[in-house]
Amino acid sequence: MRSQSRNLLAIASIYSLVTAHPHPSEHSSIKPRITASRKFDAGDMYANWPSYDQLPLDASYPTKAAWGVWGADDVQGALNHIINATILAARDEIKLGRAINLNMDLNAFITPINPNRKPLNHVFQPGSGYSDDVVVLNTQVSTQYDGLRHFPYSTDSNTTTYQWYNDLIENYDDVIGPAPTTVLGIQQAAQKGIAGRAVLLDFAGWAETQNISYSAFTGYGINTTQLDAVACWQGLPANWSKPGDILLVRTGWIQQYLNLTTYNQEILPWDPELGSVGVNASDDSLAWLWEKKLALVGADNPAFESTPFDKTISGVPRSMHQVFIGGWGQSIMEFLDLETLAAELHALGRSTFFLTIQTLNINTGIASPPNAMAIL
Ligand SMILES: *[C@@H]1O[C@H](CO)[C@@H](O)[C@H](O)[C@H]1NC(C)=O
Ligand SMILES: *[C@@H]1O[C@H](CO)[C@@H](O)[C@H](O)[C@H]1NC(C)=O
Ligand SMILES: *[C@@H]1O[C@H](CO)[C@@H](O)[C@H](O)[C@H]1NC(C)=O
Ligand SMILES: *[C@@H]1O[C@H](CO)[C@@H](O)[C@H](O)[C@H]1NC(C)=O
Ligand SMILES: *[C@@H]1O[C@H](CO)[C@@H](O)[C@H](O)[C@H]1NC(C)=O
Ligand SMILES: *[C@@H]1O[C@H](CO)[C@@H](O)[C@H](O)[C@H]1NC(C)=O
Ligand SMILES: *[C@@H]1O[C@H](CO)[C@@H](O)[C@H](O)[C@H]1NC(C)=O
Repeated sequence: MRSQSRNLLAIASIYSLVTAHPHPSEHSSIKPRITASRKFDAGDMYANWPSYDQLPLDASYPTKAAWGVWGADDVQGALNHIINATILAARDEIKLGRAINLNMDLNAFITPINPNRKPLNHVFQPGSGYSDDVVVLNTQVSTQYDGLRHFPYSTDSNTTTYQWYNDLIENYDDVIGPAPTTVLGIQQAAQKGIAGRAVLLDFAGWAETQNISYSAFTGYGINTTQLDAVACWQGLPANWSKPGDILLVRTGWIQQYLNLTTYNQEILPWDPELGSVGVNASDDSLAWLWEKKLALVGADNPAFESTPFDKTISGVPRSMHQVFIGGWGQSIMEFLDLETLAAELHALGRSTFFLTIQTLNINTGIASPPNAMAIL
């Protein structure tokens, strides 16, 4: 018992961060703060659907935001693309009953790739006739799902300029406490029920056939000409996407990371020149993704898009993180383990599969392990 309380004390001192004291919001209905929104008809979901060029719906909204597209009080964003019929139709993707885990070990990264994140702390707690364990987790140290409180629009990361999806959060204190509101918390994703058809675009596999070599640890940007070529190489038709699809891109980052020596894995995050391969942040990429009506995107790299975040969108310094999360209410999955999945899909000549995601159900939460499972 003594060593156990020492461990817990050690955790308390390592994790001297802001403690969450959630006060579940008393009012269940959201008070909208924006005015311009799409006339939404649940019976005809895509009536009046704006093109990328038509975003945002009001000039006062931030760069390419989809505020109001699902209604001024909407909290689900891109997950609205998933309806019962989407999941029902996706059952056709289950052909073999082969289930594949897409999550890395929570302790896979010796030094978290963002070294400001504290590593996982895992301790054992013996009981009488049973054993427990305690996990203290920064939800973004391994495979992760970025919730809608994670990444607002901002200018120079100044908290006074933060703008969250549909402008539903007023102040930064509403996110980090001491009394956070619940709107846009990760519990929404947990309670929504995320399942459906997913498509893997294996950029790394395609690049190998094209003799394109790149270091995953530089800001190599994958563009839509390449993604279209990957889809074509995989035998997908030009119209391969369906509304509600979940798009996963294999950039080769995990493959190259796992190929590093343990020492090089440990020092990698401290490299001041460190960047990452990923989808190129541009209006071209965003338009391509928007038109596909995706519910969620994910990749095997740190941010889906390439890093550093040094691009402009519609002439404004913006990351795709800002537009996806703050603008479209679209979450991002990162550090997915797509190695086994890619190998098996190639062997089967397939690109699509059934995918389920189950985030932590924690009120006011910001991110979560995705608990992602593919079923072939
Ligand atoms: C999905 O099915 C449930 C249970 O039948 C139903 O309550 C819900 O309204 C359906 N949702 C949609 C969007 O059709
Ligand atoms: C953040 O923005 C506010 C309002 O423009 C300004 O007063 C403040 O100085 C800025 N803070 C920093 C750290 O730049
Ligand atoms: C890639 O390199 C191999 C070996 O040099 C060559 O046979 C092949 O034609 C090249 N493929 C392309 C697409 O350039
Ligand atoms: C993508 O990059 C290739 C060069 O790698 C270039 O030929 C192509 O035009 C680019 N496509 C877009 C949409 O920028
Ligand atoms: C793509 O087009 C073909 C032929 O027109 C059609 O049969 C198929 O259903 C379409 N696929 C999707 C995903 O819309
Ligand atoms: C793995 O590392 C070896 C030795 O550094 C290198 O030759 C090889 O190209 C790497 N493979 C991949 C897939 O990165
Ligand atoms: C990436 O996007 C930027 C615009 O944000 C563009 O200047 C650049 O050419 C793009 N890179 C590729 C490889 O397409």
